[in-house]
Amino acid sequence: MGSELRDKIVGTVGLGGIARELCRLLASFRVKQILAYDPLIPPDQARAAGAELCSLECLFQSSDFVSINCPLNATTRNLIKRRELNLMKPTAFLINTARGAIVNEQDLYQALSEKRIRGAGIDVFSQEPLPAGSPLLTLDSVIVTPHALAWTDELFRDLGTMACQGMLKLSRGEVPDHVVNKQVLQKRSFQKKLDLVQRVRVRPASVTLILNLHPSSAESAGWLVVAAISA
Ligand SMILES: NC(=O)c1ccc[n+]([C@@H]2O[C@H](COP(=O)([O-])OP(=O)(O)OC[C@H]3O[C@@H](n4cnc5c(N)ncnc54)[C@H](O)[C@@H]3O)[C@@H](O)[C@H]2O)c1
Repeated sequence: MGSELRDKIVGTVGLGGIARELCRLLASFRVKQILAYDPLIPPDQARAAGAELCSLECLFQSSDFVSINCPLNATTRNLIKRRELNLMKPTAFLINTARGAIVNEQDLYQALSEKRIRGAGIDVFSQEPLPAGSPLLTLDSVIVTPHALAWTDELFRDLGTMACQGMLKLSRGEVPDHVVNKQVLQKRSFQKKLDLVQRVRVRPASVTLILNLHPSSAESAGWLVVAAISA
């Protein structure tokens, strides 16, 4: 038998772009509550996303579905191990679509094989591709995908389009969306280049031409321009 999301508690570790989109999608499944553990997000931003912040322990104890949506870094490597898995309800599921090394795979295998949790959905692994001899593949309570859940024609089309939109914004002397290293925006050298672009103006026609090329070419070209101007 399956288990519905209706009236269930979903917990997300990390409340960034992907987790907020998850919250939006979950609204139509009539979940009871969305919990989030994210040390970098203030409570009002979490509430605006439809989630309630709580501790990692509370999230693992309370959730029927735990979804991992944080980056892999020094603080998140091996964040989910025996201790956290032991807090989960025996009926709960763990979903990891972020990065494999955030979850201790041996501890997860133990929890699943001893039926301490009900199941797992895993798209990412500490070693990719997942070796054919992985014990995770022997469990019927696990669904695995080869780090390709997100891959669609539309995704790759949109990556290229978004990069070109960034180029268009730059050509208008505007700051592109989704800048990761925001500190560069304050640099005088960047401001000077932005000012130069405003005066010279990149021709939108050249951007249109790139848009008509293969999306991945457009993506690379877009990021090259962004990298060049912010260097
Ligand atoms: N499976 C895939 O194909 C796929 C595709 C895209 C992204 N990802 C993974 O998903 C992750 C999340 O993507 P995103 O776009 O939402 O990133 P994001 O940067 O928008 O959000 C990440 C969130 O994690 C939070 N965070 C940082 N450290 C944390 C910690 N110690 N504990 C809890 N939360 C913490 C940040 O505050 C942030 O809100 C990415 O880092 C990437 O590894 C996987």
